Amino acid sequence: MVRRMLAPLDWHRIRVLVEYGPGTGRFTFEALKRMRSDAALVAIETGQGFVEALRSRCDDPRLIVVRGTAQDVNRNLAEQGLGEADCILTGLPFPTLEAQEADAIIRESIRAISSSGVLAAYQMRSAIRPLLKRYFASLRSSYEWWNVPPATSTGRAVSGTDP
Ligand SMILES: C[S@@+](CC[C@H](N)C(=O)[O-])C[C@H]1O[C@@H](n2cnc3c(N)ncnc32)[C@H](O)[C@@H]1O
Repeated sequence: MVRRMLAPLDWHRIRVLVEYGPGTGRFTFEALKRMRSDAALVAIETGQGFVEALRSRCDDPRLIVVRGTAQDVNRNLAEQGLGEADCILTGLPFPTLEAQEADAIIRESIRAISSSGVLAAYQMRSAIRPLLKRYFASLRSSYEWWNVPPATSTGRAVSGTDP
């Protein structure tokens, strides 16, 4: 699943990557391996334990671990002195979030991403599709069976969408 999600991303172009809900860093560390040396990865996580574990496990200066909610992505980028995100990677459990919160996170994400940027989402179910369809003109999805449990990935270049 990690390989499937990260392979299509244009790593030469990504200067600012935001990850929502890095948890134990399963995607974070693989993303860092692929990122440019001058890029930044802002990982936004609500769980204090995950935040502390990530900070203690990784001293890569490109990684900025922020305790907070994805909804505050724009404030976090501004506080870090970073511009728009070239990519937002999310594994947030959208089906379990309140509809209003999920909607607000996607709206804030659209504000945060550059006009040529990408939102890439992975889920155990495809329940995020109706939410993304509301905001994005077209979506590309794939399915990874070789994952426990099997999972869905959905991505979309933001340009040309109508938020
Ligand atoms: C399904 S786990 C994914 C963890 C990790 N990305 C992985 O693949 O192993 C979702 C993560 O999102 C975090 N989370 C939940 N709601 C969040 C929110 N609103 N903003 C940021 N992180 C959130 C949880 O604490 C958890 O670490």
